[in-house]
Amino acid sequence: MILTITVLISGSGSNLQSLIDAQAANKLNGVITQVISSNSDAFGLTRARNANIPLIKLHELKPYYKGIAKENKQQRLLQRELFNKDLVNLIIHGNINGTPDANYKKPNLIVCAGWMLILSPLVLVPLETNNITIINLHPALPGAFEGTHAIERAWKAGQNGDISKGGIMIHKVITEVDQGEPVLVKELPIIKGEPLEEYEERIHALEHKAIVEATNITLNNINP
Ligand code: GRF
Repeated sequence: MILTITVLISGSGSNLQSLIDAQAANKLNGVITQVISSNSDAFGLTRARNANIPLIKLHELKPYYKGIAKENKQQRLLQRELFNKDLVNLIIHGNINGTPDANYKKPNLIVCAGWMLILSPLVLVPLETNNITIINLHPALPGAFEGTHAIERAWKAGQNGDISKGGIMIHKVITEVDQGEPVLVKELPIIKGEPLEEYEERIHALEHKAIVEATNITLNNINP
């Protein structure tokens, strides 16, 4: 049985590109059938189109917040949960209304590859009940630098001598941000005096290999 993958992106999609290249080289244990971006400007959308990914969809948060002031936290929370509900319908049913579609097959695996939005239980619980595994790439080691700007925060800690190694992980996604059980952890040494840009380059090079390896490990453990 061919296992299918949906990749969630928000930006340049260099990790999506690694998965696309692995699939083209017959080194991916599944097929990327869908890419969903939270950002219409994401270059990852161009990468998906160039690779002829069958389903390429946009699911932006902006329209849900339209007309709601930043200060209106309560209303924005409600809209955020609507965004999440629509997203999980999109993944499971192929449309945000959740109407059954005989032509749509839900994926076996979701890979968050630079997806920059926190996924609430409204997403994670239905994925679990639908036997859909979800993993995330995070550019830091387990237990440190959860959340955004992890690369810069780890680099700074390294230059300050607070940590002796950097690295990345791919982990199962749970409600607690960037804290799910690691699938694959890759470490790299801190180089004193190294500019952020060079540290970032080493991190991304590590990610591009690890995202394929971790996706294959996860696919090998999926019982469809
Ligand atoms: C990666 O560093 C990933 O770890 C982080 O965002 C970046 C995504 O890069 N969450 P890309 O969009 O895959 O090029």
